[in-house]
Amino acid sequence: MTDTSWWRRAVVYQVYIRSFADGSGDGIGDIAGLRSRLGHLRDLGVDAIWINPWYASPQADAGYDVADYRAIDPAYGTVAEACWLIEEAHALGIRVVLDIVPNHTSAEHPWFQSALAGDPEARARYLFRPGRGEHGELPPNNWRSVFGGPAWTRVVVPDGTAGEWYCHLFAPAQPDLDWSNPEVAAEFEDILRFWFDKGVDGFRIDVANALAKAPGLPDAPDAAAGGPFVHPAWDQDAVHDIFRGWRKVADEYGDRVFVAEAWVEGERLARYLRPDELHTAFGFAFLGSSFVASVLEESIQGELDSARLVGAPATWVISNHDVVRHATRFARSQPDHPFTSHWDQDRWGAEEPDLALGLRRARAAALLTLGLPGTTYLYQGEELGLPEFEDMPVEARQDPQVIQAAGKVIGRDGCRVPLPWSGSTPPYGFGGAPTWLPQPEGWASYAADVQETDPDSTLTLYRRAVELRAKLLLHDDLAWLSAPDGVLAFARGDLQVWVNTTGDPVALPGTLLLGSDPGAEPGVLPGDAAAWIVVTGA
Ligand code: GLC
Repeated sequence: MTDTSWWRRAVVYQVYIRSFADGSGDGIGDIAGLRSRLGHLRDLGVDAIWINPWYASPQADAGYDVADYRAIDPAYGTVAEACWLIEEAHALGIRVVLDIVPNHTSAEHPWFQSALAGDPEARARYLFRPGRGEHGELPPNNWRSVFGGPAWTRVVVPDGTAGEWYCHLFAPAQPDLDWSNPEVAAEFEDILRFWFDKGVDGFRIDVANALAKAPGLPDAPDAAAGGPFVHPAWDQDAVHDIFRGWRKVADEYGDRVFVAEAWVEGERLARYLRPDELHTAFGFAFLGSSFVASVLEESIQGELDSARLVGAPATWVISNHDVVRHATRFARSQPDHPFTSHWDQDRWGAEEPDLALGLRRARAAALLTLGLPGTTYLYQGEELGLPEFEDMPVEARQDPQVIQAAGKVIGRDGCRVPLPWSGSTPPYGFGGAPTWLPQPEGWASYAADVQETDPDSTLTLYRRAVELRAKLLLHDDLAWLSAPDGVLAFARGDLQVWVNTTGDPVALPGTLLLGSDPGAEPGVLPGDAAAWIVVTGA
């Protein structure tokens, strides 16, 4: 008998809480707003939600800088409200997955504050090192922050002179913890228990592949030399001991899940998924695929292969809070290789997006993603077909990436815009105004209430796909079918999933169950469209 654990084939909806729904009227999404909109998630039919960090935080990186892991940020509500939410979601059959941020704390975390004040025990929980150079004026090594610039900041000691440096793989407001210190490990196991005891069903693990650093913190090899990416801060073998410990904690509670955010592939990804480690990990190669059949197929096969190495399910995701929304990624000409260079943001301005085409492809991608075996994550707003807000004024942007890269990248705010629920002008029923990030004009047609009653809307398509998937797509395997060039086709038992990434129609061999293009003629799969079909007598 195969393992039928819920997380092996769940549909999980990512709630970016700051932008989901605002119950308090301050223009910032919160727990009250989320509770008031649980009906939307029930009607969508999802099995679980993953909530981005909601802990007390100065919000230097939208909550990925946690000052207190056991408290809810006052902008979002209280721990009591969090518990009510968990209860109410469970009553609707929706599990709740939180986001844990173990690589770094906020600079305002009491541990880091004590470290700055000179407490040696607190310092030993972070990565403080003397600088290089005659007067320690150079960073301890050549590591770069993901957000740009060196991964080190020099502190000023209480007597006012320059002191040691501390490591931050992200913003300076996110000091990295030293996971070789057992106090750090003990603290996080306790945090997991704190929330498991409150009924949460699992955790998405932020930058799971960065926790362990190579002893001695050596320089990274010169990236320009080529070859596979090897770096003393990333994907170190010691990280696996940490997750073995976490798995033991989760297993004490039974039926819980971890999902790793680990930007690694192939056999290296499979290591995180060994039976005594994490249950699932996002397959980011799929997220990075262009809308081109061969690119999609290669990434899908790659994810399946690495998950199968260790008997884990594949985990699909096509948009999240860190990347350009796929309705926009697919709105320009598609490279015949995975996306690169900031999700092709360098083409913004050079090539106008065709949003109608992007939406057609996004709808097709929904049937592809929901048609694959394993667990599928949906990012809030994709069920409405939302595009990226590319034209958000730079002054309105809040992503630390924009600031740290001195405006050279556009950042991630365009995919984090508050959701449109109803009405024809901002804030589109989201809550109070102004919203924390501006919403564009012209989003009325995306609003949930308009789509609710439209049988051809993207919301209706998602609802029907999620429902059918639960009923019919039970087969855990996938068999590729031969199909014309530019068309992807595979069988899941008696069902077949067809995706046409060309602009031209092709013939469909079976009976249509669900199609992404409501205008399609019988027996035809139009260009940039997908269909679920049954083939009798095949
Ligand atoms: C992850 C999060 C991202 C955050 C970063 C630092 O990549 O998804 O939003 O900025 O970690 O915590």
